[in-house]
Amino acid sequence: MTGERFAALWGSLSPIGRAGGDGGYLRHSWTDADLVCREWFVEEALDRDLEVEVDRNGNLWAWWGSPEGDGAVVTGSHLDSVPHGGGYDGPLGVVSGLLAVDRLRERGVTPSRPIAVVVFTEEEGARFGVPCLGSRLLTGAFDPAQALRLQDRDGIFLAEAMGKAGLDVDALGPDPSRLARIGAFVELHVEQGRALDVLDAPVGVASGIWPHGRYRLDFSGEGNHAGTTRMRDRHDPMLTLAHTVLAADEAARAHGAHATVGRVDVAPNATNAIAARASAWLDARAADGDTLDRLVGAIQQRAEERARHDGTRVTLAAESVTGEVAFAGDVSRLAALELGAPVLPTGAGHDAGVLSKHVDTGMLFVRNPTGISHAPQESASDADCAVGVEKLTDLLARLSQ
Ligand code: GLV
Ligand code: MN
Ligand code: MN
Repeated sequence: MTGERFAALWGSLSPIGRAGGDGGYLRHSWTDADLVCREWFVEEALDRDLEVEVDRNGNLWAWWGSPEGDGAVVTGSHLDSVPHGGGYDGPLGVVSGLLAVDRLRERGVTPSRPIAVVVFTEEEGARFGVPCLGSRLLTGAFDPAQALRLQDRDGIFLAEAMGKAGLDVDALGPDPSRLARIGAFVELHVEQGRALDVLDAPVGVASGIWPHGRYRLDFSGEGNHAGTTRMRDRHDPMLTLAHTVLAADEAARAHGAHATVGRVDVAPNATNAIAARASAWLDARAADGDTLDRLVGAIQQRAEERARHDGTRVTLAAESVTGEVAFAGDVSRLAALELGAPVLPTGAGHDAGVLSKHVDTGMLFVRNPTGISHAPQESASDADCAVGVEKLTDLLARLSQ
């Protein structure tokens, strides 16, 4: 595989959903941009004579061999993005999966198990709040009734968005027989840090994923006039929020962990009014589950202390929590041995982490020279992506024998 050949397929997907201005992507699940990406995938799959299926949770599968066969070897990732995200997070794994099928055929590999390329839906949770929603529903890690009640920022329910795209939302839920037919899952992904660049390696193998969660903080106080309310009479939830953001940063550093508040909503969001309410979303990640629990507990305690000081109220609710993932099965061992690539942990979540509880799973990373992800500067060279395709092909060839 040459970089030029990788670039040719990449170039047919990369213009879709580019938000303009900053070069980032707005490919939120079930929006027009996402639907065009899905159509692109179906066309590419059909061009390769793959059999395309949409599963009960809206995930797309392209099969070389029978979808009903046992021990399937599956690769793929997702096509949705975070707001103004980079182009590689997700799509790189999908494009690489399609190209790996081409390479297997060119190499004359006759798989003795079915091979599939999958596109999981709503991996980022950017629209409906729950990351890896497609794989969680498939594996039974998320309640379909609760999924149907999820709403986006405009109040549109997941049920409505999926229904409009032609999905039967009453069918949402676990798919144990599909899961049981998968023998191995490999997700190739752009690296979301600079470890491979520092090691001067184009491709790496994942050892595991840090436990992580998303928590909603709701602050309430007393809305009032910004010009006439004396400072000592205020009950300003923005102060409690601001202190909580600083406390999260301090606590994460103290615990050797990560904590981020990257999204807030303020009401009424007026320049000349003290806010009445504010909500903030905390993303917290740590190397082990105990540290994560202690981190979130410390942040909650600091938020509550500050709320007492401000005369406001705060509540914290977990929206999704994912436990520690160790890629320690045969797929991962084989990848590390065969590919001779560096082995790295990651703090980023992936469908591979969700699948790993049920299926022998591994992940490959492709070097990202900027080390930036979830932002337009995310990058990977065509040459490295081509190496990624070859390594993925090697692994699929071994696994499918
Ligand atoms: C997925 O990209 C995550 O937020 O870890
Ligand atoms: Mn991501
Ligand atoms: Mn991703």
